[in-house]
Order: sequence, then structure tokens, then C-alpha cells
Amino acid sequence: MTGLLARTEAFVRERMHGDGSGHDWWHVHRVRSTALRLAREEGADEHVVELAALLHDVWDHKLHGGDDTVAPREIRRWLAAAGADEATISHVCEIVAGVSFKGAGVPTPMRTPEGAVVQDADRLDAIGAVGIARAFAFGGSRGRPLHDPESAPEHHATFDAYRAGSGGTTAHFHEKLFLLRDRMNTASARRLADERHRFMEEFLRRFHDEWNGWS
Ligand code: ADP
Ligand code: NI
Repeated sequence: MTGLLARTEAFVRERMHGDGSGHDWWHVHRVRSTALRLAREEGADEHVVELAALLHDVWDHKLHGGDDTVAPREIRRWLAAAGADEATISHVCEIVAGVSFKGAGVPTPMRTPEGAVVQDADRLDAIGAVGIARAFAFGGSRGRPLHDPESAPEHHATFDAYRAGSGGTTAHFHEKLFLLRDRMNTASARRLADERHRFMEEFLRRFHDEWNGWS
């Protein structure tokens, strides 16, 4: 591991320690491992992938407020101070700026293979058993109920509408999590997503059965 990677890892560990919304250090750790595995399969540059995976949520507006300009600015500052070259800095900033899901009706294309694998890895961590755990942790951190039978899931046409959503966490499965499998950029990620997707369907089926007192 280069000095730049080691310093970035130590910084991110420290910053994300103790988060209770599903965005703790171990989320970053899983995204990095998955992204590096996908990078090897897809022939993407591992150095850029690893830096982008490490930094992808550190200044996220969901967690820290502010707007979408904060992350690229702070990442640029951090990487420049740590001695990264300009091509790496601008590539990592571009990936982090584009990585997030922004609503069902908002396309979030990635321009490079490095961006594609980081986005896929982040999205894989939002689905399956870990994804279910993270969704309820995130919902709880925002005071959302597990399930709200009086509000139906919405289709969000803009990022602002998605951000302002306030339903129960089960609605989030329809508003985001079930959409991710078909939006994976790489074939390798799609294969992994398929199994995780089916597990979430089974989970929600059982959830509703129990909720309704049928099982
Ligand atoms: P992204 O940047 O694409 O949103 P993150 O890695 O930051 O991805 O993770 C988002 C996590 O937060 C996911 O696990 C997702 O399920 C959860 N999350 C986001 N919005 C909600 C919500 N309204 N209700 C429940 N979970 C949410
Ligand atoms: Ni993330």
C-alpha cells in the first residue's frame, strides 16, 4: 500500500468511526474490497478505485449537510495535501460526485470503468442482508418508522424530491433498493446483485406476512 493510500485509510477510519446510520468505517471497508475485486475483473485502475472507495462517503451531504460541492472541494484539498497527482485528484473527485443514487427517475451514469466499479460496489452494499440492515439503521437514524401502511412508495423524478422523502423504511426498498440490480454497470456486479435482490424480496414478503398477522 502506498503512503497516500495508508494516510487516506487512517483519515477515513478516524472520520467515520462511530456512525450509527450504516455509513461507518466498515461500510467503506466492504465497498473498497468489493470495488477492488470488481476492478480486477473489469481491468480498472486499482489505485484510483481504492482512493475513490475510501473517500466516497466522507463528506456526503446526507450525513454532514451542506451541498454537493463540499465533497469534491474537500477531497481535492485532502488529496493535494497528501501529494496525489492532478489526474488522480480530478478522477477521484468526479467519481465521488457521481456515485450516489439520486432518485428513481434520475440517471447517474459513470464515465470511466473506475467510476463504474465504485458505484457498483457502493450499490451492492445497499442491497442483500447487509443492505437491509443498513436501510433500517439509516431510517432509525432519521426517526423513520419501520413501515408506514398509510403512505405508498413514491417515484422520485428529481434529487430534491428523493432527498425530501419521508416515508417508512419499507418504502425505501421500492424507491431505491429494488431498482439497483438493473442499474449495475458491470456484469460481475449484476450477478452478485441478483442473489441479494431475491433475498430482499423474500424478506419483505415475510415482513408483510408478519405485519398482517398471517404467519
Ligand atoms: P448512496 O450515496 O447511493 O445513497 P450510500 O453508500 O451513501 O449510497 O448509502 C446509502 C444507504 O443509506 C443505503 O444503505 C440506503 O439504503 C440508506 N438510505 C438512504 N436513504 C434512505 C431512506 N430514506 N430510508 C432508509 N435507508 C436509506
Ligand atoms: Ni456508500
